Amino acid sequence: MDESSSVQQDFRDNLIRYGGDVYPEIVERAQGCYVFDAAGKKILDFTSGQMCATVGHSHPNVVAAIKKSCDTALHLFSGMIPRSVVQLAEKLAKIVPKPLRKSLLLSTGSESNEAALKMAKLYTGGFEVIGLGGSWHGVTANAGAVSYASDRKGYGPGMPGSFAIPEPNAYRCPVKHCRDRCDRTCMNIGFELYDMQSTGAPAAIIAEPVISAGGVIVPPPGYFAALQAEARKRGMLLIFDEAQTAFGRLGHWFAASHLNVTPDIMTVSKTLGGGMPLAGVITTDAIEARCHERGFAFYTSHVSDPLPSAVGLAVLQTIEQEKLLERSAEMGDYLDARLAELQARFEEIGDLRGMGLLRGIELVRDRETREPHHQLGALTTQRCLELGLSMNIRRRPERGSVWRIAPPLTVTTADIDLAMTIFDQALTETRDVLVRQSTGRTAPAQRAASAV
Ligand SMILES: Cc1ncc(COP(=O)(O)O)c(C=O)c1O
Repeated sequence: MDESSSVQQDFRDNLIRYGGDVYPEIVERAQGCYVFDAAGKKILDFTSGQMCATVGHSHPNVVAAIKKSCDTALHLFSGMIPRSVVQLAEKLAKIVPKPLRKSLLLSTGSESNEAALKMAKLYTGGFEVIGLGGSWHGVTANAGAVSYASDRKGYGPGMPGSFAIPEPNAYRCPVKHCRDRCDRTCMNIGFELYDMQSTGAPAAIIAEPVISAGGVIVPPPGYFAALQAEARKRGMLLIFDEAQTAFGRLGHWFAASHLNVTPDIMTVSKTLGGGMPLAGVITTDAIEARCHERGFAFYTSHVSDPLPSAVGLAVLQTIEQEKLLERSAEMGDYLDARLAELQARFEEIGDLRGMGLLRGIELVRDRETREPHHQLGALTTQRCLELGLSMNIRRRPERGSVWRIAPPLTVTTADIDLAMTIFDQALTETRDVLVRQSTGRTAPAQRAASAV
């Protein structure tokens, strides 16, 4: 039995399978923008791990913070507040858009949304929560109930009062109304349906500023201001889930600051922890005060733990020291330009979208019909990995195949060039194989695509 099949056998024998395939080799090490497997292969990581290694894997500042915590404190009684927690909360209060200020420091993104939704319910006295189609907020009860990109089937009823409104996807309008320009009909229809179904107990609207797992959908200008107005009309709180978008991924501290829309509650997670489990809920003094009066409790084993907060501080310092907000915008533009070159040559690249270093590439069989090309997506992803590039493909049968590209913010132009060379080769080879399979002939040489 070769090494790779033995890893997969071990996975089957001793681990609970939690979704999707696993990489066929043991991964030994991760450093900067690369991971290294047991067979000696160096893989360019364009998923930043699970979107968390935004300052690069094992950044020296993160490693130093962990080592320092080993000499001071790793974990405490949840009612004891370590210095790193005070400092991180203070730092967050300085950089979040006002009037957001107070933080609750937790471990995972699901947990942060769980806490935010509980706060919204306690604050408003309602329990109805609206999420956007295709969104992902986590796997716990409240967060999972308003996640519509995840597999919901087989677990029985979700939380009562969970609603979805169609996502503003201009490339694949969910209400089959617009093409390439969203006029927010999707939102209007969504709220009409919600109002029809509501039992009169609205609590919150929760949204990712870029719907990432749902296909890297960037809502049109003005969308979030309109969403906030709809929330206000109904007495609902607006929650931004900035798990992926905060701390530089889009070239800004927060999507909220860029959008000029300040939510009532913001959750942050993945990109704050530098690879360690760390999440936060950030809200206003007024919301915190009312929730406290009403007995808000979210007393977990790792709330306010010293180690992750020390790492979070190191991540924020690194972003400032290495000017990663600016760098993300700059490298994002470079990546976008390189992707546009490929789009000009591959008819199958139907759409490019995203901001900063969060980019989506949608694959189609035909640019006019926009029929999704799932097979090309799956096989090209596999070939990229063989050639040394890890990319995440989001496949939703009714919505298309979209690669999500999100390298660490420390990525260089040389890394991007390497990724594009691999991507080009993988796409060319895979397309060739598919054409050969379907026609028995070799694919024509790459031709200029008609419209970009
Ligand atoms: C936008 C968003 N929110 C929340 C979560 C859940 O975070 P976690 O997996 O840390 O619980 C994710 C995870 O992918 C996410 O992408």
